[in-house]
Amino acid sequence: MIGYTTFKNARIRYSDQGEGRAIVLLHGFPLNMQVWEEFSEELSKHFRVIAIDLPGFGASESIGYFHSMELMAQCVHQVMRNLNLRRYIVAGHSMGGYAGLAFGELFPENLRGLIMFHSSSYQDSPEKKLDRDRSIENIKKRTKTFLKAATLNLFANPKDEHLKKVREIVSANSVRGMVEATEGMKDRKDREIILRFSEFPVLFIYGKHDRILPLEKMLPQTEVPRDTETVLLKNAGHMGFYEAKEESLNAIIKFANRCFRMPVE
Ligand code: MLT
Repeated sequence: MIGYTTFKNARIRYSDQGEGRAIVLLHGFPLNMQVWEEFSEELSKHFRVIAIDLPGFGASESIGYFHSMELMAQCVHQVMRNLNLRRYIVAGHSMGGYAGLAFGELFPENLRGLIMFHSSSYQDSPEKKLDRDRSIENIKKRTKTFLKAATLNLFANPKDEHLKKVREIVSANSVRGMVEATEGMKDRKDREIILRFSEFPVLFIYGKHDRILPLEKMLPQTEVPRDTETVLLKNAGHMGFYEAKEESLNAIIKFANRCFRMPVE
């Protein structure tokens, strides 16, 4: 089912399927919740699965002019509170993982586990921040060209069968929402400390051919949490839920079952 919540006067869209213990899926940039469709379908055979259009993406409205990772986390918390869900797993793809980690900082009592799906606890380097400024120019002035290149970069194989569909999905996003999120990513703080002191288990999933978050730069953080698991997808870039669907699903189901079996303090 598709539902709507109001958060800071903005309408927020989410999907809700399946029953039982809950997992919330947060999309990356410049995507929206529709990228989770096939994956949610499978996952909802085991769990209740909520996927959210983060503010400014898909059918969710923008809030002000700057979307921090904290704001995104607060939005997720609001959606889940309105659904009367108190303890759940957050799985964030890339930017969704940045928001997931902000969630872990703000609302650790609600987390039973965190999945960093092609994501990172590190803040942007000075070079990356300059890149963000260039991206903002391109999003505003050359939206189609920006989206064409950005979506191509997501996949290990430039001829991946999902590319066409992903391009259709991102065409629903607004220029304003993409700019606000880019500003938010650029400004985000380093959250390795949240991993270090996390009381919740963390699962990292990485693609060997990821051009956006290269594997070798990501690996050191996987050692940081007290309870940590890492899955490497040999044939994936930045889109494991399409490129290595079965492997990603199995990893998440196994991890989630383990988290949900742990006693709640
Ligand atoms: C994403 O996939 O969410 C973004 O590419 C992440 C980023 O730009 O840092």
